[in-house]
Amino acid sequence: MCGITACVGEDDVVDTVLTGLKNLEYRGYDSAGIATLNGHGVRVHKREGGIDPLSSEVDHVEFAGQLGLGHTRWSTHGAPTDENAHPHTDCTGTVAVVHNGIIENYAELRSELAAAGHLFTSETDTEVVPHLIEDELAAGYDPEAAFRRAIARIEGSYAIAVLVDGTDAIFATRQGSPLVLGVDGKRRFLASDVPSFLEYTSRVVYLDDGDFVRLTPGEHVITDITGSPQNRPIETVEWGSEDAERDGYDHYMLKEIHEQPEALRRAINGRITDDNRVDLEEFPPGSFDDVDEVHFISCGTSHHASMYACQLLRDRGIPAHAFTAGEYATTPAPVTDGTLVVAVTQSGETADTLTSMRDVKARNARTLAVTNVVGSTAAREADDALFIRAGPEIGVAATKTFSSQVIVLALLVERLTEDITGEPSAEREGLLSALRVLPDQVERVLRESTAASLASQYADADGRFFIGRGVAFPVACEGALKFKEITYEHAEGFAAGELKHGPLALVTPQTPVLAVFSGRHDTKTLNNVEEVRSRGAPVIGIAAETANHVESTVDVFLPIPETHPELSGVLANVQLQLVSYYVADLLDRSIDKPRNLAKSVTVE
Ligand code: G6P
Repeated sequence: MCGITACVGEDDVVDTVLTGLKNLEYRGYDSAGIATLNGHGVRVHKREGGIDPLSSEVDHVEFAGQLGLGHTRWSTHGAPTDENAHPHTDCTGTVAVVHNGIIENYAELRSELAAAGHLFTSETDTEVVPHLIEDELAAGYDPEAAFRRAIARIEGSYAIAVLVDGTDAIFATRQGSPLVLGVDGKRRFLASDVPSFLEYTSRVVYLDDGDFVRLTPGEHVITDITGSPQNRPIETVEWGSEDAERDGYDHYMLKEIHEQPEALRRAINGRITDDNRVDLEEFPPGSFDDVDEVHFISCGTSHHASMYACQLLRDRGIPAHAFTAGEYATTPAPVTDGTLVVAVTQSGETADTLTSMRDVKARNARTLAVTNVVGSTAAREADDALFIRAGPEIGVAATKTFSSQVIVLALLVERLTEDITGEPSAEREGLLSALRVLPDQVERVLRESTAASLASQYADADGRFFIGRGVAFPVACEGALKFKEITYEHAEGFAAGELKHGPLALVTPQTPVLAVFSGRHDTKTLNNVEEVRSRGAPVIGIAAETANHVESTVDVFLPIPETHPELSGVLANVQLQLVSYYVADLLDRSIDKPRNLAKSVTVE
């Protein structure tokens, strides 16, 4: 986990590095640090906490330099303390290192180095790197060679950037953790993610695993570990920096909730023909003729989008399973020549998802990444990629990317169905017509929602249960996940029928139930609502505005526009996002950066 950033240029880079860090804060905010190199050697300042306290403490005169790197941490090895914050240095203070990932053999390296007299000041795995470099420098190697030799000794996943006194270069490498390079005139940037430097440049170079890069003002040289040159093109990203700004909203999350209509328009743009057929440029008809079963692998919110897509496939008679990627990595399901494995990952960098994707690739299964990030590891390593086009999502809790994932997966489901069964699904016509107007309907929900007024009523409760059936079940799970992520209050999502098999014991007048109705199986869900109401639980119903039977049964009604039942979950989810947001706001939680979480978890 964590975010790393670096910059070299002809002018002072302190502000640029701090800005780059601020833009990456969503990747971790347990501690932060910066190192620069100037005529007086390597300067390091680091501390527990976020970027703002770090920025206000950095002495701009003392730190002024043309080479700098920074780090924002999501703790894995060692508590979030000043000592464990990056950059880490060697015994002489001439080498500074930032790292994202995990060094698996750090324990043995650390005891070897400690036995040889190196002094360690942190509990991190990272700290072995500067000491290894120190040894290589002492053995007479130049900084670049020392860096390569040190990296050759470590195992695990990493993106690492290094400053060494006495050079005019930053050295970096990646293996299993993201690292992208930015090019702006004489300036060169490095970062875990493009938004770090997007306000300076949209010209990027995606580095591959095993790449080593040397950055100096006006030049970047990419090689492999032996020094042999690697040709990586400069590409232009389509996102502008304004996409990654808050635009007057109190939180990125609220901004991103409101961006959903636009995100959905982009997601379907050009992908539905005038005569209501799916047209996925990447997958012409027949692309999936050989597929007979689909496995989804994903985590968190992406897993809920996968569960949603799984329902749609099964409704069309196609065997489909949605696995959490962490479990799939440890308990892999059997695959055959006909299995298509779809990795659903907003960031394209989630370690659990990448590990299970790599594992299943090694077992010769066909893989497809559904992701938001062009150039991400998942997009590059999967056999194929399909992009959700949601634009950058900064809020740690995923919102617009869930909606875009569901929509793009629904299109994929139609393509798969037609290829596998030889004919379009019975739902295609209705679903695609409904999809065209879905962005406008999301806009209406955002305009008319009364979710904000519920916050004071339901903020104080013992727990909340979210229930639904069919496609409303993954939405219930997503609603509960969002609620706990940003309010820190207890919430659980259940299949509506499952509540009575145990959790009902917890239902009291102090446990509101949020019931999601998709327009299918509503009578059964209403029965479940009656079960909880008779135990005194207040019920908030989310259903089509025409669902009078629901409106007259529940205590509070949050209506959504009438749509195809398979899309109703997307609209219902917007109402649930708003409920969570306003409760979290009322409780004054850290909405964009909830405690203990990070946007993209690059460790297993
Ligand atoms: C983290 C985030 C979640 C996200 C999950 C999967 O846990 O906090 O919000 O859903 O990772 O991320 P991905 O990028 O793979 O969709």
